Amino acid sequence: MDLIPVPRTAALREDAAPYVFGPRPVLGAGPGTEGTARWLRRELGAATGWDLPQATPGATGDIRLRLDPERGEPLGPESYAVTIDENGVELAGASAAGLFWGAQTLRQLLGPDAYRRAPLRGRVWSLPHGKVVDGPRFGWRGMMLDVARHFMPKDGVLRYIDLLAAHKLNVLHLHLTDDQGWRVEIKRHPRLTEVGAWRPRSRWGHRASLLWNETPHGGFYTQDDIREIVAYAAERHVRVVPEIDVPGHSQAAIAAYPELGNTDVVDTAALGVWDDWGINENVLAPTEAVLRFYEGVFEELLELFPADVSPFVHVGGDECPKEQWRASAAAQERIRELGVAGEDGLQSWFIRHFDAWLTARGRRLIGWDEILEGGLAPGAAVSSWRGYAGGIAAAEAGHDVVMCPEQQVYLDHRQAGGPEEPMPIGYVRSLEDVYRFEPVPPKLSTEAAARVLGAQANVWTEVMENQSRVDYQVFPRLAAFAEVVWSRLPEPGERDWAGFEARMAEHYVRLDVLGVDYRPPAGPLPWQRRPGVLGRPIEGEPPIV
Ligand code: ACM
Repeated sequence: MDLIPVPRTAALREDAAPYVFGPRPVLGAGPGTEGTARWLRRELGAATGWDLPQATPGATGDIRLRLDPERGEPLGPESYAVTIDENGVELAGASAAGLFWGAQTLRQLLGPDAYRRAPLRGRVWSLPHGKVVDGPRFGWRGMMLDVARHFMPKDGVLRYIDLLAAHKLNVLHLHLTDDQGWRVEIKRHPRLTEVGAWRPRSRWGHRASLLWNETPHGGFYTQDDIREIVAYAAERHVRVVPEIDVPGHSQAAIAAYPELGNTDVVDTAALGVWDDWGINENVLAPTEAVLRFYEGVFEELLELFPADVSPFVHVGGDECPKEQWRASAAAQERIRELGVAGEDGLQSWFIRHFDAWLTARGRRLIGWDEILEGGLAPGAAVSSWRGYAGGIAAAEAGHDVVMCPEQQVYLDHRQAGGPEEPMPIGYVRSLEDVYRFEPVPPKLSTEAAARVLGAQANVWTEVMENQSRVDYQVFPRLAAFAEVVWSRLPEPGERDWAGFEARMAEHYVRLDVLGVDYRPPAGPLPWQRRPGVLGRPIEGEPPIV
């Protein structure tokens, strides 16, 4: 069976008579399994037409669900076993999450039609006898979606949560704010979305492109939208990590509230939401008023993202140019008052403030690896994006780390070197390159390696104007990434690329049924190209490899 991600062990008798479901299977859901039972009735029920009523007490049931916490001992709390014999199928999970991942495996075993939303007439469902025993390598198996550069409407986010869950990924990091848009309703600061969620036009292609898309762009999630997203994710054992990026990447907020900017060096009242890409010099002013403003933002955010499902809050911290602080008499005065080491010290003061503030509220701060500069409070975690170095330094210094080096797992980067890739940017990172990504660098001490919580693939959307473009960049590479973070290697460095590629044949059919606009192995379909729109490196220059 072509399972992706590949399980720990699978012994399935495809040569023997399978278990054949009758027309009206019943579900025996034991205590604590209600969530997975609900999901099976909804998703498998749609594909098969089954109602899956609860088995009468004492009867077995064609599908039996139970929690088996002891199973967690060898393979971890998210482990599960699927056993299929002449009596049907039993799913045992070490936890509710493990059970849910087992249900995802069951769906893959049933074949691609199990991903349809209505049954095919006359379809008979069967499963091979045998057993799958499985558990993940890492607890943080994530994808970051940038909904700031291009907004993804709520329905698309819910769809992505289902796609993550189908790949046994369990973290959705939402990049909610940037220079080009503010995407979450904040009741006490309504202009953040009234003004900050819209821009009149967008650069079409890389910033080196001379083209503009003159269609206004925007959108935001209401607070109830966010509550729905978080609850929908939690039901699928996916945690949502919200990111509010400070003190850089803040022009949309400054456009909404000009007093947030460095008003003594720039006429912030004249700023709009940015319509271009790149690193922006309009950063937050290092004032107490700005801290109070953002405390208000985070207060509302903490209510939307409850601690049990979203313990981590991401504060960005990346790419904050210091020119305005250098030029600003007010910022310079602040450096003297605080006694910090120059502009870098101001950045560190900013992040440390929110670290203490979040810690006091029972949360954990996570930020991009720039937050290491100037020293970091002990509980903070780091998203290592500028290669492995930040992650190595952070882990050796005792911080938890999520590996997401841009050279390996930035899915905005092109998938092939040819000129037909749409708006090609960055490094060439093929499906095989992503498959060969190793989250734990060999140089780490054993102690530090244990601090690598896992990894995430990051999806920056400057050149992805809609869901279809996001699908193209994300798939099929997310399937390879899922295997990297879920499946344990038999030996370090031992990746069975040929085996994965063979299993992908079936996975492409699943993605087709799911309506995913992935990049086909032979390259983009004609409508997936963007001829004439400049990427970077530009045509004629060699791609970065
Ligand atoms: C980043 O890519 N600026 C985190």
